[in-house]
Amino acid sequence: MRVIIKDNPIEISHEAAELIIKQINKDHGSVLGFATGASPVETYKRIIEKYNEGEVSLKHITTFNLDEYVGLSQDNVNSYYYFMQDNLFGKTDVNPEKINFLSGKAENLEEECQRYYNRIKECGGIDIQLLGIGTNGHIGFNEPGDKFKDIPFPVKLTQSTIDSNRKYFEAVGDTMPEYALTMGIGDIMRSRKIILIATGESKAKAVKELVEGEVSPSCPATILQMHADVTIFLDKAAASLLGEKK
Ligand code: GLP
Repeated sequence: MRVIIKDNPIEISHEAAELIIKQINKDHGSVLGFATGASPVETYKRIIEKYNEGEVSLKHITTFNLDEYVGLSQDNVNSYYYFMQDNLFGKTDVNPEKINFLSGKAENLEEECQRYYNRIKECGGIDIQLLGIGTNGHIGFNEPGDKFKDIPFPVKLTQSTIDSNRKYFEAVGDTMPEYALTMGIGDIMRSRKIILIATGESKAKAVKELVEGEVSPSCPATILQMHADVTIFLDKAAASLLGEKK
């Protein structure tokens, strides 16, 4: 696990974007796993900048996103699909046919999860998976629990996740869904390279657990300790508890 601590979140976004751009320029048909939430936004901005400067084209990449809320259609402002259109896809030359998403509107959620698993496999697996981390240590929507899940699955969100994310729904007068679909821990771990971004004091406890804690499904992110190629980008606030006794 490589832990990189930077003074400021902008430096993080530049380095994370650089790793992704390098991958795309090495293999134009790369398969990239993207995340939503505030953590990757600056990284996406940097990729867009580099795209506008002609330094990278996303035309041939295939994308998979980590998760989606159950019940939200792609044109709902709070769907993760909408987020990706708004923050990356719609501002670059990503081919819409190569965008893969879990559908929160699927009639049969189990079948939808199986379809997504098969699709990742058909595409040869994920070259780089970008991640954020929840304040409770979740990655994607793999909430703390008693076992690590392998393949995509429907999940009931924890109160802590609802408390962190409901502001986005309240802002438009909606109630936050209680269920989501997410890639499993196995899907994430099968990615050839993983980049996790965490900034701000609210992530410090989860980051300490991720880097120094025992590997346990009670903090799903700890599994990343077992992956051969993980880079964790932190700002000073998110890294502030590292090295301190519990
Ligand atoms: C959300 C997403 C995760 C994200 C995390 C942190 O619930 N499902 O993929 O990494 O929570 O979000 P943020 O970056 O906004 O803090």
